[in-house]
Amino acid sequence: MCGIVAYIGKKEAFPILIKGLSRLEYRGYDSAGIALLDSGELNLYKKQGKVANLVEFTNGKNIHGNVGIGHTRWATHGEPNDVNAHPHYSMDKRIAVIHNGIIENYDTIREELIKRGYVFKSQTDTEALVHLIDDIQKTEKVELIEAVRHALQSVIGAYALVVISKDHPNQLIAARKSSPLVVGIGEDNSEFYLASDATPIVEYTNQVVYLNDEEIAVVDVNEGLRITNIANQEKTPYIQELELHLEALEKGGYEHFMMKEIFEQPRSIHDCFRGRLNAAEGFVQLGGLKDYEKRLLNAKRIVFVACGTSWHACQVAEYLIEDLARINVEVEYASEFRYRNPIISEKDVVIAVSQSGETADTLAALELAKARGASIFGICNVVGSSISRITDAGSYTHAGPEIGVASTKAFTAQVTVLTLLALRLAYKKETLSNSRFRSLLTELEAIPEKVKRVLDKNELIKEIAAHYKDSANALYLGRGSSFPVALEGALKLKEISYIHAEGYPAAEMKHGPIALIDEDMPVFVIATKGTSYEKVVSNIQEVKARKGKIIAIVTEGDTQVKEMADHVIEIPATDEHLVPLIATIPLQILSYHIALMRGCNVDQPRNLAKSVTVE
Ligand code: G6P
Repeated sequence: MCGIVAYIGKKEAFPILIKGLSRLEYRGYDSAGIALLDSGELNLYKKQGKVANLVEFTNGKNIHGNVGIGHTRWATHGEPNDVNAHPHYSMDKRIAVIHNGIIENYDTIREELIKRGYVFKSQTDTEALVHLIDDIQKTEKVELIEAVRHALQSVIGAYALVVISKDHPNQLIAARKSSPLVVGIGEDNSEFYLASDATPIVEYTNQVVYLNDEEIAVVDVNEGLRITNIANQEKTPYIQELELHLEALEKGGYEHFMMKEIFEQPRSIHDCFRGRLNAAEGFVQLGGLKDYEKRLLNAKRIVFVACGTSWHACQVAEYLIEDLARINVEVEYASEFRYRNPIISEKDVVIAVSQSGETADTLAALELAKARGASIFGICNVVGSSISRITDAGSYTHAGPEIGVASTKAFTAQVTVLTLLALRLAYKKETLSNSRFRSLLTELEAIPEKVKRVLDKNELIKEIAAHYKDSANALYLGRGSSFPVALEGALKLKEISYIHAEGYPAAEMKHGPIALIDEDMPVFVIATKGTSYEKVVSNIQEVKARKGKIIAIVTEGDTQVKEMADHVIEIPATDEHLVPLIATIPLQILSYHIALMRGCNVDQPRNLAKSVTVE
């Protein structure tokens, strides 16, 4: 949450910062602001709302400078307004700071500083930090870097921050703890970029350093990059080559990133299993987990920790791994797990699933599991992210950058990796017959083609969406691994269209939600052929008897449900275990069209952020 970007070098910083902020806007869009050094002055421009508001506000202003910092905010402390927007100045306007994270002891720091004469303008925790740095510098008469270090020693909480000072026009100081920060090394080692992720950096350089927790980086146009930690030990920067391509960050002709990402799924699912699956040879493997396979096979149980959509992917994995590989699986909300004093031992394997690899609760859950002796693995999309770096091993989902705040292609990529994992474990444990194993591999290889066929139904799905765009509520039902698909369908609708939606196991409907059903209630049912088909058909009848509207996702050629439903969307037949990879797609498309018809911002829904780096 919150995106930060900074530049120092020979170029004009302003356009670099604005473009960087637009790329980071998925991290929060409550306000945006920048600070630039120009002819000895530290100038600050900030505005409530999206980056576009900041651009409008700065239009016609003569903004220059080769050193600057920028911030796009997801509000935690203090409502979204101009004053609470970052950057925050020191009282003498000598120093400015941008910050992502939460300073938990800010209140104590703030009170102490108020006693010492500091006047606070905002309600943010960050302002306490900038005054603290300023105070330490003045009272201890130390260099800025030492003041930053001392300030961070007394701070409790999470931070990625960048400090700019008019006394040090040749340098920027950055630090991280639990919130991500990347340093891009530009030309001649005298030009630097700092950002929450690599997206603002990719078009300028592919040489990057990911800061570790409690590291402080000084980027200096004359002296280059120097990294120390908050205990003042020297660290050697580990320079990595970025494998990110600019076109992946653009809309590529689509009106919205969400639609682009929905339509990318045949490719992203394919990229996800490329090199890991070969049905003809009966081969399936996750390279990243190869050396740790024994731990998985011998695990007493596998515990998945995740949040949001990623948690739904783990729910699918529970069905797959328990049924195919016969290993006990538990799926936990990371936020609940970490505060529950869970029973975890060395015999457990804890796997975090996270698109961003930065979700604060998921990271903390992993740290707890590690401290209790469990092996910890990660399944992440963002390469180089915090989770991928703290885990013993893991697998990337290779979905490419996901920019729409509502997760789409990352979900299907997660389910694909988890399916590969289930199949690999089943193979090693010999829990499947050879023919069943081979048939699952073949079916998995065919998924991208089948997803394409669902995407071809975009117009039909749009027509269906038009019928339900004014609904106040919606219910989503599924059984088996289609239950998490129902949860995900409901989440997609509520987060982007603001229609209240709930997902339920179809049979649970009778234990409460059935009371809500009337002629105004659309009920989206995943009713594909499989073990529970007949049971789901009965559930559909129960809804119809109460005049509810049925929109059913059915297997191609289905006739029974077609007769009962108000609308059906046919999807290609596949193995029951792989249905989530296909059945999710029409639900994503439905939510997209409904949200658009209601005039919602599908890529940046209100109050949300894509990367939740605060708990
Ligand atoms: C936020 C995003 C969701 C995402 C969840 C978990 O709520 O808006 O799309 O599923 O965080 O994020 P992660 O990056 O850990 O998958």
